[in-house]
Amino acid sequence: MADQTHQAWWRSAAIYQVYLRSFADGNGDGVGDLAGLRSRLPYLAGLGIDAIWIVPWYPSPLADGGYDVADFRAIDPIFGTLAEAEKLIEEAHAAGIRVICDIVPNHCSDQHAWFQKALAAPSGSPERDLFWFRKGRGEHGELPPTDLQSIFGGPAWTRVADGEWYLHLFAPEQPDFNWDHPAVRAEFEDILRFWLDRGIDGIRIDSAAVLIKDPLVSDTYEDNDGIHEVYQSWRRIADTYSPSRALIGEVWLPDHEAFARYLRPDELHTAFNFAFLGAPWEADKLRYEIDMTLEVHAPVAAPATWVLSNHDVTREVTRFGREVTNFAFADKRRDVPSDLALGTRRARAAALLTMSLPGAYYLYQGEELGLEEVEDLDDALREDPMFHRSGGVDPGRDGCRVPLPWSGSTAPFGFSPSDATGTPWLPQPAHWAELSVAAQQGVQGSFLELYCEALRIRREDPALGDGPMRWLESEPHVLAFARDDSFANVTNLGTEAAVLPPHREVLLSSVPLNEDGTLPPDASAWIRLA
Ligand code: NOJ
Repeated sequence: MADQTHQAWWRSAAIYQVYLRSFADGNGDGVGDLAGLRSRLPYLAGLGIDAIWIVPWYPSPLADGGYDVADFRAIDPIFGTLAEAEKLIEEAHAAGIRVICDIVPNHCSDQHAWFQKALAAPSGSPERDLFWFRKGRGEHGELPPTDLQSIFGGPAWTRVADGEWYLHLFAPEQPDFNWDHPAVRAEFEDILRFWLDRGIDGIRIDSAAVLIKDPLVSDTYEDNDGIHEVYQSWRRIADTYSPSRALIGEVWLPDHEAFARYLRPDELHTAFNFAFLGAPWEADKLRYEIDMTLEVHAPVAAPATWVLSNHDVTREVTRFGREVTNFAFADKRRDVPSDLALGTRRARAAALLTMSLPGAYYLYQGEELGLEEVEDLDDALREDPMFHRSGGVDPGRDGCRVPLPWSGSTAPFGFSPSDATGTPWLPQPAHWAELSVAAQQGVQGSFLELYCEALRIRREDPALGDGPMRWLESEPHVLAFARDDSFANVTNLGTEAAVLPPHREVLLSSVPLNEDGTLPPDASAWIRLA
């Protein structure tokens, strides 16, 4: 199949994640939308990315930032219309950008028509069978059916008016579908076709490993038997399109082998590399994750993906400026100090490291501007259920979702048009004036120019993207690898300057090299080997 060759776009692509509410506001209500995204396609094309992944754009009460979907075949009016989405796909394609949309198969919104019908129907009805309704424990069923905890904190069961309970692995507003039910399977296959028929090039699959479960039998909901059949059947659908459309799994599984099983040739094309995303700014840990990633992907011949951040995790400028630089949901706390200058320096180096690794690369909007996590948001403005359900112990994910700064010296920094009636749905820090697209574009040495240049080289150099890599000899605190006989990346995670291997040319470096040609600490360089 032509698609399995190294030329298939998803094997090497640089994919830009669009958090639609916060990307660009076209109609001036303070919320990003399709009109805003369409108006910024030239920016994305100029950045040199290959595809965009748009987070859920469906009608949603936004109990979980849109991952609570009320209708999988429509666009939320706050974002625009289905006709506009079709226009966007067409315009993106014309600009050379592929479009990936987000499908959320594990759950829907409690406002979804199926769930509303299930609530209105009696216990044991076919309508309830599409979800996980069960009787409670205790004399009057007043206790949840099991002690299972939700991923967002608190019980994973909520009681309805007639006394039954329903399962939700996430927020109570996100009831879990019963994937044992053939109607659920048929519905999602139809939803896939609905979007693929509209020219969507790839599907990002939310919470891909948790669909299959039997909560009364076991508390284990990850990676249960039967999950692979679901994706094998999705793959058959994707393969009916020409060229085949890409399936990209959000698979958080600590077991590397279990992870790789999702990437067998008849299942998903790729999956996010969260192990790399979570790794600290330490040479040995990163080297381990890189090796492990390549080792795990090799037997299934799937390309690796490399990700530094997304809409769920602490922005890397903040993370890398902390004393502890790894990412773990369980450890997220408020008021953890960060040296943003150091974090910025490391984030620039991390970008060059990440973009030169073999496989596909994902960047999250604002990453190219060097934005930090906004940590001082007023609690009253925080929307994330992770914040609310932890009683405020976990700061939640709003801080990485603040609307982008595009231009100008005061908020909304061009996020909304000048005649806007609304203010950005989350306030932007005043100093983002210096980080706006306009403030950085064409400015030598800016974060944005580093990304543009790196993406340009990544696209033009056949050694980059998918393909082999080999480690070069280096000091323990240095990561040095070659992609072919001529391209190498060297990243210095130590405290002393590092000597570069013999080279003809420095293609790009995250900071200027020392006068003696050595690479300073917390820096990375792309070189042409001699
Ligand atoms: C993963 C998504 O990335 C996250 O934002 C969401 O809260 C959960 N899945 C539940 O859909």
